[in-house]
Order: sequence, then structure tokens, then C-alpha cells
Amino acid sequence: MTAYEFSPQAFPYENREALLDDYTPDTLVGRDSELEEYHAALLPAINGEQPDNIFLYGKAGVGKTASTKFLLDRLTSDADRHDVSIHTEFLNCDGLNTSYRVGVELVNNYRSADEQISESGYPRSQVYDMLWEELDKRGGLHIIVLDEVDHLNDDSILYQLSRARENDNIETARIAVIGISNDLTFRDSLSPKVRSSLCERQISFSTYDANELQDVLNQRHEVAFQDGALSDDVIPLCAAYGAQESGDARKALDLLLKAGDKAREEREQGSNNDHPDTVTEKHVKEGRKMLEREEVHRGIMDLSENEQIALYALATLHAEGETPIRSRKHYERYKLLSERAKDDSFTSRWMRDQMDDLAMLGLVSVEKKNEGLDGGQYREHDLAQDLSVVVDALSDVIDLVGVHDSIREHVDRTE
Ligand SMILES: Nc1ncnc2c1ncn2[C@@H]1O[C@H](COP(=O)(O)OP(=O)(O)OP(=O)(O)O)[C@@H](O)[C@H]1O
Ligand SMILES: [Mg+2]
Repeated sequence: MTAYEFSPQAFPYENREALLDDYTPDTLVGRDSELEEYHAALLPAINGEQPDNIFLYGKAGVGKTASTKFLLDRLTSDADRHDVSIHTEFLNCDGLNTSYRVGVELVNNYRSADEQISESGYPRSQVYDMLWEELDKRGGLHIIVLDEVDHLNDDSILYQLSRARENDNIETARIAVIGISNDLTFRDSLSPKVRSSLCERQISFSTYDANELQDVLNQRHEVAFQDGALSDDVIPLCAAYGAQESGDARKALDLLLKAGDKAREEREQGSNNDHPDTVTEKHVKEGRKMLEREEVHRGIMDLSENEQIALYALATLHAEGETPIRSRKHYERYKLLSERAKDDSFTSRWMRDQMDDLAMLGLVSVEKKNEGLDGGQYREHDLAQDLSVVVDALSDVIDLVGVHDSIREHVDRTE
């Protein structure tokens, strides 16, 4: 093979896209009781009646979005067949964040390309008025889905949509709102009047167990992979991982995809001589390692700047072979690095508390030790993740503080 040639290679996939997050499967397995309840809640729609507003909740990756798309697809095609006017709008609130932006997005979705409004410049009440006008122009039932609704930082739009008819804002149209969230505290954070209108009907999605995840994966396997491309243990392993990760189908599917990609990569490089045409347990293990690294990376990126500097300080000590290290020494290094970046650094007490938090996230380890019979206690800190992953994720803070000599080789390697 010529170096760096790009040659198409189907193996091991028949349709790789079927493993990506936005793929909607034709049927859903393992969600019978949830789908039954959801279907019953939507039934009035097909008679031209207004269903209750629905609030769906459950942990990440348990099929809330997939079930919603699946049922609404069915509902709209059956409505066409029976000549019932049902319009559905599906909005993900992640990225929209405010009622104002949701309002603008809805208005624009209803309007043609030459009548779009901009994302700022109108009073909020005017945006709502435009929305009522669009809805009434069409009439019929409008099912408005607000997915990841907990990303909204105010609940005005929830109130407005769920009370539009009582408040005489719309006359001919009817609205049913479906709010979806994996934040189990979100409902309680709503004001009582919004909670009672949005949560007229609540449907809870349970987490998947390993058997249900195997069903999900088997179904996807048939669409996504070539016949015989997976060894028998691949799906049970991916399902076990998903079950361990709080019953998350997305994580199980992600792992299956990573394993497939690993097998493809190896075949491309000619390094998998034992089973060149099979995705095996080994690929699942490698894929899992990759996913775990990605998760650590995301976890570090979410830390505050000061926490990142404290972690950076520990990474430099680790690179020098000084860890586990006493918290006092760790604090000295933190202070040194922090002063390079800004005027103020936090106290040693602060750093101890932060290290306890980072230990909970699995990024560092903290051990409390006794100093001999009559001595006091002291703490030792160590890095609990690969140095290269940590350094890679800390790149912004390293730019800010400067590259410490101890990690220079890692920075050069990851750049
Ligand atoms: N019962 C199922 N059958 C087939 N595929 C499923 C099933 N449940 C979930 N999936 C798939 O798993 C992935 C995650 O599901 P989904 O996006 O519906 O989760 P969610 O509950 O909306 O999670 P989040 O709260 O993170 O948004 C999707 O790719 C979806 O197609
Ligand atoms: Mg979702």
C-alpha cells in the first residue's frame, strides 16, 4: 500500500450510519411499556382532539428522543391517511437556551425563507404574537417537542405555549407540548403554574438492563454490519458496558461503533493477521479504552480554570516522578503556576477541597496518612489518569500558564 493512500473499505460495515446517534431505527426494542403509555397519551390527536401536555423523563440514552421521533413519525403519517391536521415541531433546546430563542426558532420554522426574523431586536412579546399568528393561520393541532428542555434558563415559553388557548392567544389552533429531560431535578425547579401545565401527563423511561441492551444492539447489528463480521462475544460485551454505564443505549452503541472502527483500522494497516475479517473482543477492549479517554478529556475540559491549574500542577509533579506527593508540596507547585497566569491564587484549603472533588470524578487519588504515633495526619495526591490524556485536555491552561519543563515532551507529542 502506498503511504497515506485513502482507499475505500466497507469492512466491517454494511451501513455505518446506523450506529450514529441521529439514526432513528424502524422499530424500538425493550420499550414496550413506555411506548404503550406514550401512544395512549397521544391517541386523542388522531381524533382531532388536544392531547395533554406530556413530560418525559429518564436518564441519558434510554430512548426518550428515539421513542418520540418514532411515535411522531407514525402519528403524522397516520394523520395524513385519515386527513387530520397535525403539525409537529421538534426543537432541541441545547444551544437555544432561552425562551426568546425558542420563540424565534419556532416562528422561523413556520415561515418561508424570505419571511425569517433575526435572532434579536424584537421584544419577546412581539415574537410570541408572531408565533400565535402563524399557528392560527394553519389551525389544527400543533405538537411542539422541546427536547433537552432543562437547557432553558427561563420557563416563559413553557408557560406561554401550555396556556396559549386559556390566555386567548390562539383561537383556531391547538397546542400540545412535549417536554423531554434527563435532569431529574428539572421538574421541581419549574414554577408551580408551569409545572402543572407542562406535566399534565408524565412518562418515565427506565434504564436498560444488559439483556435489553443486547436486543437493541442485535437489532442495530443487522442493519449496520456485514454478515458474520462480529465474533459472538462482541455484542454481550458492549451490552455489559452499557448496563454498567447506567443502562445507556447510546454508550453501548458508541462502543460497538468504536470496536468496528478499530477492526477496520487494523485491517487497513494489515496488523490484524489472526482474524482479519472479524471484529473481536480485543477491538471492544480497545474501543472502551478510547471512550474512557474521551470521557476523561471531557471531564477535565469542564473544570474551572483554577481546578485545571491545580491538576496541571499535579501533572507536572507526576511527570517528575514525585507523586504520590504531599498536599503541601502540591499546593506550592499550584501557587507557582497560578501566579504565572494571574494575580490571585486560591488557598491550600480550597485546593484540598477541590482535590476531593476531582477524586470523586476519578481524575486524581487522595490518600490520608498518619505521621507516626503522635504525629498528625497528612494527605498525598496522585494523578489517577494517563499523563498524556491529562496534558492533552489541559491544553488551554498550558497555553495560559506556559509549558512546564517536566511535561514538554508530552506537549510536543500531542501537538
Ligand atoms: N429501544 C431502542 N431500540 C433501538 N435503539 C435505541 C433504543 N433506545 C435507544 N436507542 C438508541 O440509543 C441512542 C440513544 O437513545 P436516545 O437518543 O433516544 O436517548 P435519550 O433518552 O433521548 O438520551 P438523552 O437524555 O441523553 O437525550 C440512539 O441512537 C437511539 O437510536
Ligand atoms: Mg435525547
